[in-house]
Amino acid sequence: MMSQIPVKKKRQRQSEPTLPTDLEDCVCFPEVVLCLVEKRMGSSRKAFLTTLARRKGFCVEAANSERVTHVVSEGNSGDEVVEWMKRNGSRSVDAAGSGPALLDLSWFTESMSTGRPVEIEPRHCLGVSVQAESLEDRCQVSPYACQRRTPLAHKNQVLTEALETMAEEARFCGSEGRSLAFSRAASVLKSLPWTVRGVKELHFLPCIGEHSRKIIQEVLEDGTSTEVENVRQSERYQTMKHFMKIFGVGVKTASQWYQEGLRTINDLQAHHAKLGKAQQAGLLHYRDLNSPVKRSEAEAIVQVVQKAVDQFLPGASVTLTGGFRRGKPSGHDVDLLITHPVEGQEVGLLSKVISWLDSQDFLLYHSTHRNASQALEDQELSVSMTAMDRLDHCFSIFCLNYPHGSIKGGSRAWEPGYELKDPGDATLWKAVRVDLVVAPYSQFPFALLGWTGSRNFERDLRRFSKHEKKMVLNSHTLYHTEKKIFLSAASEEEIFQHLGLEFMPPEERNA
Ligand code: CTP
Ligand code: MN
Ligand code: MN
Repeated sequence: MMSQIPVKKKRQRQSEPTLPTDLEDCVCFPEVVLCLVEKRMGSSRKAFLTTLARRKGFCVEAANSERVTHVVSEGNSGDEVVEWMKRNGSRSVDAAGSGPALLDLSWFTESMSTGRPVEIEPRHCLGVSVQAESLEDRCQVSPYACQRRTPLAHKNQVLTEALETMAEEARFCGSEGRSLAFSRAASVLKSLPWTVRGVKELHFLPCIGEHSRKIIQEVLEDGTSTEVENVRQSERYQTMKHFMKIFGVGVKTASQWYQEGLRTINDLQAHHAKLGKAQQAGLLHYRDLNSPVKRSEAEAIVQVVQKAVDQFLPGASVTLTGGFRRGKPSGHDVDLLITHPVEGQEVGLLSKVISWLDSQDFLLYHSTHRNASQALEDQELSVSMTAMDRLDHCFSIFCLNYPHGSIKGGSRAWEPGYELKDPGDATLWKAVRVDLVVAPYSQFPFALLGWTGSRNFERDLRRFSKHEKKMVLNSHTLYHTEKKIFLSAASEEEIFQHLGLEFMPPEERNA
């Protein structure tokens, strides 16, 4: 017992030079509290400078003191000082600006020779590359999008647009892996609460590969990337992008058309015979389908579908999912999820709803996919199973009437997007892509989570489940592969709990 006492005493002495109690020097500048950074300075020089400062009437305290106003270092960068302060228990050094001043030794020596704290000038200050975030926080960016809060508006738009062009181009070339790498890098940048200003900051971030780093560097240094600009200018990229904006056209079809020498929508008209039903509808409504769907339009469609659902199954609910649920003000389509609180009641609902909508001329195109659970029952639960494999769903093109009825009803300004498509038709209307999905009540939280997106968020949620939790997640179940059990959930929150993840509200899933 006794032997411990001297040890303790010794420790206490070591943590000095910062305790002023046994010092007789008086404090002449109470508004200035110094902290000397030992890193690179060394402990003996630090002790010497501490004594010097105190003799001159300066107060010197330890890094963990909240009274520190001036941090003085020798030979360290601002970032290094922030990191050192953090490691030494400082809670005040996180926002350069609001925290203590980070100063070079030159401020200290000038103050000592003047005999008072000199005015801080820019030349005394150590630059910190990131204003609001500590290095420690930056190191904590997760490689999984489902662990990164990603609001709609972010601070790295110019960089993410460049990376997303590269991702798109790679996808057009059939290079899925390369596309994913660019897409992941963009997604990481979207989650950052600060604007990246230097490539050095990328060292702390996951999922930024060599090529992405190069693109980012180019944009940071020159304001633009030649490589990205070349892609954007290329005939192939432009044509592919143009063709893929047609509903029902994917990479394969678009690149085949490109190889056949087709370049414009007009070229395709001559090709008409080769188009599938979806593509024909896509071409017919090209303009409408490529003008953004507004939230008010999405809500109008919810009303129509709710009305249809109510006729066949009172008590069934229609939920707006997809980008609108994540808070987007507009989207490329409307994603709707239908369920009923009594399990089993929803069976057969989708086809009735579709038939009714069709009979009321609400549908310009639809393609229904039946629940495949029977066919899949014997199969081993496959990891590759995608979101919609086993839910009744329908990809459709809606005919949305102008909100205030027919133009015969009154005179008012023409609204872009709504047109008289047919001279014999007296109604203004617009074609809108609508995805309808029906889920049994017990699967509703999984379907909701799966159809809310974003695609990057969903992909990483499944990747996280598989690699970190040995679970398989899809839009209707969560399966523990080692315990060999299905985990049920009554809400999205419960699914996050099963996965040991912090709940992420839809507005923060814009990865
Ligand atoms: N989804 C899916 N399978 C599809 C289509 C969509 O699982 N064949 C799911 C995805 O999980 C996706 C979500 O539905 O995240 C929404 O997809 P989509 O409508 O393509 O994207 P949004 O995020 O809604 O973007 P936008 O606003 O452009 O529609
Ligand atoms: Mn959508
Ligand atoms: Mn969709």
